[in-house]
Amino acid sequence: MVTSVALSNGLRMPQLGLGVYLVTDIAVCESSVLAALASGYRLIDTATAYRNERAVGRGIRSSGVPREDIFLTTKLWPADFGYDKARAAIAASLDRLDCGHIDLLLQHQPVGDVKGAWRAMEEAVDEGTVRAIGVSNFTVADLEALRPHARIQPAVNQVELHPHWQQPELLPYLAAHDIVAEAWYPLGHGAKKLLSEPAIVAASGAHRKTPVQVILRWHVQRGFVAIPKSTNPAHIAANIDIFDFELTAAEMAAIDALGKDRPMFRMPRWLMSAVMPLARPRPLP
Ligand SMILES: NC(=O)c1ccc[n+]([C@@H]2O[C@H](COP(=O)([O-])OP(=O)(O)OC[C@H]3O[C@@H](n4cnc5c(N)ncnc54)[C@H](OP(=O)(O)O)[C@@H]3O)[C@@H](O)[C@H]2O)c1
Repeated sequence: MVTSVALSNGLRMPQLGLGVYLVTDIAVCESSVLAALASGYRLIDTATAYRNERAVGRGIRSSGVPREDIFLTTKLWPADFGYDKARAAIAASLDRLDCGHIDLLLQHQPVGDVKGAWRAMEEAVDEGTVRAIGVSNFTVADLEALRPHARIQPAVNQVELHPHWQQPELLPYLAAHDIVAEAWYPLGHGAKKLLSEPAIVAASGAHRKTPVQVILRWHVQRGFVAIPKSTNPAHIAANIDIFDFELTAAEMAAIDALGKDRPMFRMPRWLMSAVMPLARPRPLP
């Protein structure tokens, strides 16, 4: 049984989901969503920028799983920030997904007219088309800048987070402000260096689980939401098979102690601000 966390507005969010970043073969995207839902996943994470919202929607609709049991996340891209553009972009995402409401809508990056877009997102919550709103890749300074302008505070911040990058400045801030930490690159994008860490390999042997399963279990026990990406049905099934064991306090501490590296993904803010508001993703059929 997949555990869940309570968002600040009371909505419950599963702690494990499927991410579909870079899955631009739409047939593969649709079949991965179907495989995940058949394996028991109830959280799917897409984005306007992934271009595959339509395929995700088709997978959900054809799965036979009741819509109310599924937690669907998508994200607005900075080219659509600003009040008017964000209003239109939310309507376009709802149309492409074609699944009724969006459970969680995130601002994908902290650049451009964040405040105007946030107002449009708050209105979508008022109107009932979106159930919760949050951000992605926001630093403490970004969150502090949004705070006084937000009638509804962000419920989630989706950031790079894994045993090799544990966000030492951000996580205490999120905990203090009742913002759920959601992990992208939960498996370090599949990096061998992470999977072969002795602390992870030792726990893997002790519990007869794979290193990937140990890492995902660590995320769950830390209280994070993790959205590993896979298009391999065997990996998709294995990644959710983590709710029948528990890492000991010593095993958790050993993995916690790994978090001293820098993030794997780095882009200077000036480049993000220059490029992201201009790049408009073209949705796939
Ligand atoms: N908000 C943001 O800016 C942002 C940025 C990046 C990612 N994300 C989100 O986070 C999700 C996950 O990130 P990610 O896909 O980059 O990295 P990831 O989930 O950490 O790693 C994905 C890699 O791990 C492999 N993998 C998955 N399960 C495995 C298993 N059981 N055994 C062995 N290998 C396995 C996958 O290959 P196979 O497909 O072959 O299994 C893939 O190569 C994305 O899909 C997206 O939803 C958000």
